Amino acid sequence: MGTAVPRYDWQWAYLVQAHALEPPELPDTLAGYDALDPGVREKLEDARMDYHSELPLVETRAISEMAETIRVTVHGNRAAPTGPRRGFVVDGPANVGKTTFLLHLGRMWELELRRRYPDRFASNEGDDPEFLRRYRPVAFLSLPQSPTVRMIAERFAEYLGLPTPRSANADRLTSKVLDCFARCETEVVLIDDIHFLDFSQRDGRVANDYLKYLANHTNATFVMAGVNVKRTAFFSEGSPVVDDAATSRDAYRSYQTSSRFARMPLEPFGQALLSGKGTQRLRDAEQEEWCRLLLALEGELMLYNHEVGSMTRTLWWELLERSDGMIGSATHLVRTAAKRAIRNGHERVDKSQLDLVLDDYASGEQRRKGRRRPGSR
Ligand SMILES: Nc1ncnc2c1ncn2[C@@H]1O[C@H](COP(=O)(O)OP(=O)(O)OP(=O)(O)O)[C@@H](O)[C@H]1O
Ligand SMILES: [Mg+2]
Repeated sequence: MGTAVPRYDWQWAYLVQAHALEPPELPDTLAGYDALDPGVREKLEDARMDYHSELPLVETRAISEMAETIRVTVHGNRAAPTGPRRGFVVDGPANVGKTTFLLHLGRMWELELRRRYPDRFASNEGDDPEFLRRYRPVAFLSLPQSPTVRMIAERFAEYLGLPTPRSANADRLTSKVLDCFARCETEVVLIDDIHFLDFSQRDGRVANDYLKYLANHTNATFVMAGVNVKRTAFFSEGSPVVDDAATSRDAYRSYQTSSRFARMPLEPFGQALLSGKGTQRLRDAEQEEWCRLLLALEGELMLYNHEVGSMTRTLWWELLERSDGMIGSATHLVRTAAKRAIRNGHERVDKSQLDLVLDDYASGEQRRKGRRRPGSR
């Protein structure tokens, strides 16, 4: 199954309503597990491997704070008169959980609406070839590499289930998409991977303007995410750095975007700890937050010999160093070590199992730089 990034609206609906994998029911003891009929045990092993491949999301402080800020804005935008609306750009390095955050935000938003207003979703059940009467409060789009206006319009149309005949130009597709958003009462539009906008090409700069045009012509709040967006020309409307900010036309345009799109940095964990910089207080706070994340992950493990807390206590530094504070690399290490421990019967995540896991390349590079573990804990 897995939570692949949705390309079509029906996949989004599926993702919203999918439940986290339930932990499989296991015998109480390892002896009981080992004594199972081999066929039964193999199936259970598969179920445990699947479960550890998709450990539930940990609601970090960054996630809750960003979600709360966006929530208030969505309410404001929904009721605001026609005109430009405030949006957000979740910005951070690779593998810090940007996509996970977008999906989580959209999912939580829609689930809440489903709970409060089930009647609004009732019309979604009928047959409507153009899907125009569906209630679709959330839409999700992942940008393709070097997108052009036509590509974005087409992707949105495809996502919404609208026909995309070759004869329809980008303008026409855009009208259909905007019309669909209005009819479907779409109030949150999530756009992932905006670092794919290629500002070195005219097409890329036009596509960037186009996203902002879309945002200005719906009631929806646009929440976008990308890798190191601050370093791209997104906030300066595709223009290079402008020297004379007071007079340049580009500067006004740049101001327009930066005043409408708030940047939400999503940072890796423990950067002061890893660099040995910052105050002791900051480093302590980082260690506490990191350990809270690990403990939450650890609490989800289903291993016979694992004492919850032991991994956090003994491996927090190694996990921080090897992952370079990237939540994606850390979850990969923990999940894979857990799966190794299931396969080889060790049934616990400790140093020996962690040593069996290959680093992903990026975090391995960091590790090779070598760092000193702080003395505490
Ligand atoms: N809050 C979280 N709790 C648990 N796991 C998380 C969390 N955030 C991210 N992950 C895990 O980390 C991995 C990477 O996350 P994600 O793909 O969201 O990162 P990203 O910043 O979008 O990466 P990229 O820059 O490559 O697009 C995923 O496997 C995801 O399940
Ligand atoms: Mg991503």
